[in-house]
Parts: sequence; structure tokens; C-alpha cells
Amino acid sequence: MPVDAQATAARCAEAARILRNGGIVALPTETVYGLAANALDEAAVARVFRVKGRPLAHPLIVHLSDVSAVEQWAARVPDAAVRLAEQFWPGPLTLILPKTAMVPFSVTGGQESVGLRVPSHPLALAVLRAFGGGIAAPSANRYGAVSPTTAEHVRRDLGDEVDLILDGGPCVVGVESTIVSLMDAHPIILRPGGVTREAIEDVLGCAVPVTQASATRVPGQVDTHYAPRAAVILLPRAALEAHASELRTQGHHVRILSPQDVAPMALFASLRRADDDGVDVILAAIEHETGLGLAVADRLRKAAAPRDR
Ligand code: TXA
Ligand code: MG
Repeated sequence: MPVDAQATAARCAEAARILRNGGIVALPTETVYGLAANALDEAAVARVFRVKGRPLAHPLIVHLSDVSAVEQWAARVPDAAVRLAEQFWPGPLTLILPKTAMVPFSVTGGQESVGLRVPSHPLALAVLRAFGGGIAAPSANRYGAVSPTTAEHVRRDLGDEVDLILDGGPCVVGVESTIVSLMDAHPIILRPGGVTREAIEDVLGCAVPVTQASATRVPGQVDTHYAPRAAVILLPRAALEAHASELRTQGHHVRILSPQDVAPMALFASLRRADDDGVDVILAAIEHETGLGLAVADRLRKAAAPRDR
């Protein structure tokens, strides 16, 4: 094994050891960095909620090393779930399924359902395999803030409060997983993300609405999420320049996000960079709402939503 690969394998083994001992570890996934704990260790899970500052009713996704582990965590796996898992795992898709008795309510926010996902990042998979169980992991940012897409983002947000930060480079997808609920008669998308709606509809052969109106309660779908410190205003692209000039004459430090800045892989880093640069108003346009553009539009709208903090 080359030296680098050996060092990485050792870091992953170390991460797995920390998780077994009840610690918490920030690890890379293909979507965003996650803040990981043993999903069956309620004290470790409680620490994740504390470090994030996240309300306890807001459920965590459980990450698994492969699809064969699903039956330990899900009491019922409908045919649609099997087909989606076959097509998109490992990858940026989370399936909401009825939980088994083993799954702690502290992980599911008190609900009878659990979110499951097999990530594709090689380091996430290496940690999952070395650990050998389910890893509960929300995005590794403070509650309501912008998700981290590099290890440096995590270091700056959570630094000393985690036992280890595994650096796996910048996240290649850049927006969180698509969440599909299979709790109702018809599948629905609860959060657009790294697997497109079109691809999901292709596999299932039916329309899959994006909605939060489900028989299942979806805590955590608060409006103010993914928000940088700067205010975010969305306008048609053609109107951005004029609005920026007006705000500048009022003394604001304004930044217009380019189409490249709002590409899925760049979006969260662009929002963070604006904060680092002391920008107080970010102006952006929703370019399109097809493919990954749907997830970008969702995150931008949440960043632009009225804030209660
Ligand atoms: O890509 C991702 O999904 C990343 C990486 C780390 O895997 N994780 C992530 O976790 O985005 P988090 O905690 O930031 O967002 C998880 C979302 C929340 O909106 C939560 O409400 C929803 O998943 N969720 C989790 N379990 C659920 C459940 N049982 N029912 C409905 N929604 C659920
Ligand atoms: Mg999050």
C-alpha cells in the first residue's frame, strides 16, 4: 500500500475506534461533511445534538456501509425502496422508512421512521466498514448555518468540539442527499438533493412530487436553514446589477453570485466566502430548477427566507 493510502486507512481506523468508544467524528461524504456518532449510542447522539445546537425533534440520518444492513434498521422495505437503493446507493439518496425497534427515538426525533443512506465517499465507506454499524450524522455545521463542504469549514465551525476531523477533500456533489419518503402510499421527495427528481421518477416510473405535506411529520424543515450571516436576496439575473448599485449607494457591501458561484459544488463555499469577506448583502438568481438546479434553488430560497435568529 502506498504511504498515503496507509495513512488514510489508519485515520479511518482511528475514526472507527473513536466512534466505538462513544466519541464524535467529522467525516467527508460526497454531499457535505457529516458529524458522526454511533447511532446506537444515545450519549454520543446527544453530544451531536449539543455540538450542533440542534433541536431534539429534528431527526438524524443513519449511514450504512451497504444495502444489506437496511433490514436491521427498517421494519418494512417496499419495492420502490429496493429499486431506488439498487440504482443510487452508494450515493446521495436518503430513504425514509419505518424504523425497527432497535433504532433509538433520539436518532429519529421521536418518530417511527428512520432516514437511511449509503454514502459513496471512499473515506465515509472506509469508516463505516471499519466501524461495522450504523453512523448517525447530520451535516457538520451549527444548526441553521451553511453546510460544510471542506474539512476547513468544519474546523472553523466546530474545531475543538469534535474528537477528530477526517479530511477527504472538497465534497464533489456539494448539496445534501435527496430525501425520499416511502412512508405513505406514494413516494415523495422531502428534500431535493444530489440525486435528481428526474432520475428518481425514471426509476420508479411515476411522478414523485416534492412536498413536505406528508402523513409523516417532518421536523427540521424550518425555513431558515443554510443561511450565511449576510442577507440573501433572490432576483432574476437581469435585475441583479441595478439592485446591487442601489444597495451600494446606501453603503452596503454587496456581492452578486455568478452562475459558477451557484453551481451545486460551489454554492455553500460561495456563501461562506461572502461572509468571510465581510459582505452584508448577497444577491443571487435561481438559474433553473431542473436536475441539480432544483436542490440549488431550494437552498437559495431557504438562505433568503425571513430569519428568526
Ligand atoms: O447528504 C446528507 O444527507 C448529509 C450527509 C452528512 O449525509 N446529511 C444531512 O443531514 O444533510 P442533516 O441532519 O443536516 O439533514 C437531515 C435531514 C433533515 O432535514 C431531517 O429532518 C431529515 O433529514 N430526516 C432525517 N430523518 C428523518 C425522518 N425519519 N423523517 C423525515 N425526515 C428525516
Ligand atoms: Mg443540515
